[in-house]
Amino acid sequence: MSEFDMPDRYAVMGYPVGHSKSPAIHLMFARQFKDNIEYTAIQVEPGGFAQAVEQFRIAGGCGLNVTVPFKLEAYSLAELHTDLAQKAQAANTLRFNHDGKIEAHNTDGPGLVRDLSRLMDIAWNDPAGSGPPSAFRGKNVLILGAGGAVRGVLAPLLACSPDSVVIANRTIARAQELIGIFGGPTISACGFHDLCGQRFDIVINGTSASLQGEMPPLPMGIFNAGALAYDMMYGDSPTPFMKWARQHGAPSVADGLGMLVEQAAESYYFWRGKRPDTAAVMAALRARS
Ligand code: ATR
Repeated sequence: MSEFDMPDRYAVMGYPVGHSKSPAIHLMFARQFKDNIEYTAIQVEPGGFAQAVEQFRIAGGCGLNVTVPFKLEAYSLAELHTDLAQKAQAANTLRFNHDGKIEAHNTDGPGLVRDLSRLMDIAWNDPAGSGPPSAFRGKNVLILGAGGAVRGVLAPLLACSPDSVVIANRTIARAQELIGIFGGPTISACGFHDLCGQRFDIVINGTSASLQGEMPPLPMGIFNAGALAYDMMYGDSPTPFMKWARQHGAPSVADGLGMLVEQAAESYYFWRGKRPDTAAVMAALRARS
């Protein structure tokens, strides 16, 4: 690489996007490979997404990450879709192919599954990155929430073959809708009060309640010995769900920072065919906060 080479351009688009850690994460990945990339955060007003994507593409952009509230629009805008994007009906990653077509991908699910595997010390043997098909065998999983965030991760989670997956949501009909889409004998839907008397090995908070400083109304005693409580959100301090989980006997509690780094690594792989060392980046981010 000479000092005159133009960097490959990437960005994250969202609203708001000012506090995004994605630029820092991707620049750390690029440094690992000595890749010459530029990665910026672009705040896009609602209604302006398609135009912003087109401007970025014409200016020579190679790929985009997409965050709230544009993941559904990113999916619709693309002409090509990976399997994962199709199942999620939403995209967090776009690639501008050489034939001018936009290809949509969703790396949230693989990002979550990789982080859960790391936290539970499950070996990840598959170099292709799709993960072992039975990684979560023997585990009972509870997912809280049934919105876009949960839909985005369900297919890769189910592909790890947990013994059971229960989706609990405030509005039960939305959880049932997901069962209709993702189906199967091991997945079921319920409301929060139906969780009384049930115990789980992995409890994932995929609601947006943390954004309002709240958490779903959960009964006590839902954690099995050795259980992991995982909030897909992250922040500078523990979310209400994480605090509650700690107080109510969850031996391991984690926020979604690992998922953020892992989904970013999956995007990097989709764009550039290289798999970054995520542990080093996670350690650097934790040291900063
Ligand atoms: P996202 O894209 O973040 O998933 P969403 O599609 O609006 O956003 O979904 C938000 C999820 O958080 C839903 O499951 C929502 O429950 P409802 O379907 O009943 O609305 C859930 N949620 C939001 N605030 C909540 C709260 N205070 N308590 C419990 N669940 C909450």
